[in-house]
Amino acid sequence: KHILVIHGPNLNLLGEREVGVYGSESFDSINREIQAFAESLGLSCEIYQSNIEGEIIDKIQKERQHYDGIVANMGAYTHYSYAIRDAIASVKKPCIEVHMSNVHNREEFRKISVIAPVCAAQISGFGKYSYLLAIEGLNKLI
Ligand code: DQA
Repeated sequence: KHILVIHGPNLNLLGEREVGVYGSESFDSINREIQAFAESLGLSCEIYQSNIEGEIIDKIQKERQHYDGIVANMGAYTHYSYAIRDAIASVKKPCIEVHMSNVHNREEFRKISVIAPVCAAQISGFGKYSYLLAIEGLNKLI
């Protein structure tokens, strides 16, 4: 099985961005752990990051024949991108919504996810382990 892990806007700055919220581990280091964990479950895994809404939508569309499911931290797009929501709904593959922080104990606007209704599950608040837990869960669904 093959999975696509998507990081949305500003996640490329992990390790230097709002360290008090997201921790000091670098984006590359977290990605290495994601890749190794997926492989340990026997999954192949492509990791993709973009700061651009349309590029994320293109990626979801273009790869749709190749992946069995998606793990996605859409960053702030989570809270307002109906276009990304529609892309997820269009591909008929399970998507797990991921957040490193607990989006329910922060600002009000983060409590709203417009992608949650088209995702199989949401994992929030476990730091980098949110990605690993999402991969573990997705592996049970595909
Ligand atoms: C985030 C939470 C979002 O509200 C925020 O815009 C992010 C990161 C998280 O991983 O906790 O960019 O998705």
